[in-house]
Amino acid sequence: MIDNAVPHGRPKKSRSGIRTALVIGAVGVLGAAFAVALSAPASAGTTLGASAAEKGRYFGAAVAANHLGESQYAATLNREFNMVTPENEMKWDATEPSRGSFSYANADRIVNHAIGQGMRVRGHALAWHSQQPGWAQSLSGSTLRSAMLNHVTQVATYYRGKIYAWDVVNEAFADGGGGGRRDSNLQRTGDDWIEAAFRAARAADPGAKLCYNDYNTDDAGAAKTRAVYNMVSDFKARGVPIDCVGFQSHFNSQSPVPSNYQQNLAQFAALGVDVQITELDIEGSGTAQANSYRSVVNACLAVSRCTGITVWGIPDHYSWRSSGTPLLFDSGYAKKPAYDAVLTALNGGTPPVTPTPTPTPTPTVTPPPGTGGCSVTATTQTQWNNGYVIQPITVTNTRSSSITGWTVTFTLPSGHTVTGSWNATLTTGGQAVTARNAVHNGTLAPNAATTFGFQGTRANGNTQVPSGYTCTAS
Ligand code: XIL
Repeated sequence: MIDNAVPHGRPKKSRSGIRTALVIGAVGVLGAAFAVALSAPASAGTTLGASAAEKGRYFGAAVAANHLGESQYAATLNREFNMVTPENEMKWDATEPSRGSFSYANADRIVNHAIGQGMRVRGHALAWHSQQPGWAQSLSGSTLRSAMLNHVTQVATYYRGKIYAWDVVNEAFADGGGGGRRDSNLQRTGDDWIEAAFRAARAADPGAKLCYNDYNTDDAGAAKTRAVYNMVSDFKARGVPIDCVGFQSHFNSQSPVPSNYQQNLAQFAALGVDVQITELDIEGSGTAQANSYRSVVNACLAVSRCTGITVWGIPDHYSWRSSGTPLLFDSGYAKKPAYDAVLTALNGGTPPVTPTPTPTPTPTVTPPPGTGGCSVTATTQTQWNNGYVIQPITVTNTRSSSITGWTVTFTLPSGHTVTGSWNATLTTGGQAVTARNAVHNGTLAPNAATTFGFQGTRANGNTQVPSGYTCTAS
């Protein structure tokens, strides 16, 4: 391991001053150690990787092979991270520069470094419209399809057993409101190119998790997000091998962290896939940047199938958008406020974002289901060892006139908690939960219905789900 006890760049002292400086320094270090011991939880980690591991997750970084020989770069990587993504070295242009001739030297440097440090590797990316070698860019139709499938097979086979998760397909959906596929040479080989790539990757490396990865899919309701969601849902229904969805999460002031980011992770997890934050960077500085990073980490921690977070680089000056200083370390490798916010969040220092409680009058008489002007039915969409997603919860207006608001109550089994909700505002008091309509779905015409959902967490192995749903209209 790298010894991090010696700070770099400390000014030289005269010989006579060294002993005094050491004594004062030692007292200062002890004082700091006590302060940390007293204020932090006993299990709090002191690095991103260790703290994430305590929460059952990884914390990774995108790495460039040509920086591995730099001492501060390698020291920071080795100290802080336990997952690595090659930033460019596994892309098609890097691994198959001419057709059928494979080149793994740079990717191998990263993989070997990671294995030597006990880190895992996310493979990125097998099939993508961008960073294709020139020979592939000029192919089309069935020739391109078989070249792509051969590429997937060869690369995934070469790295079999060494990759935790592969981004099998990257960025296949179009931006904007259309909700369709992105036009590309791969897309023009037929809509089924994505599932063909996943099947080839599974056959080549059955032990790797297979992910679909994209950007601008962070807002739960955006058209692009819905389109990816529908594809994943369809893949699960038809048995296409997909295990995870990656959210690149490149944020800045034009594209901030959406307020429903956690709900978005939860809705994908509810399809039965892991979710991962794969290329996180957030332009900005100081407290604002730190707050955004904190909200992303808290969102991941609140979704049990969010298995880890990767930042897209280590120091700001090596970022692909370095002018936005979007990373956790500055160009001198000093920890930024964003780093402190991430570490604190991983250590549980800041609770997950919860909806602002809305005070609700306690009804003196609880109306039986269906007689309060609305009816409610709840479906358990999915459940796993220690959690579940209840959706859709359907609220129907049973009056002959419109209603302008509704309140659903239900009861959580003992020890269960709500870890996320969408299309309603939930407040809890003990085991009782009150769900109020959101701004957009309170008004319902006679017989009209709307839906909401939530995610719950429970002790491992407990099979109960919430019950006792009632609905009251206003
Ligand atoms: C970027 C790299 O960071 C750059 O070095 C390279 O010049 C271009 O690609 N989405 C992805 C990543 O999936 O592969 C991209 O990485 C950033 C956007």
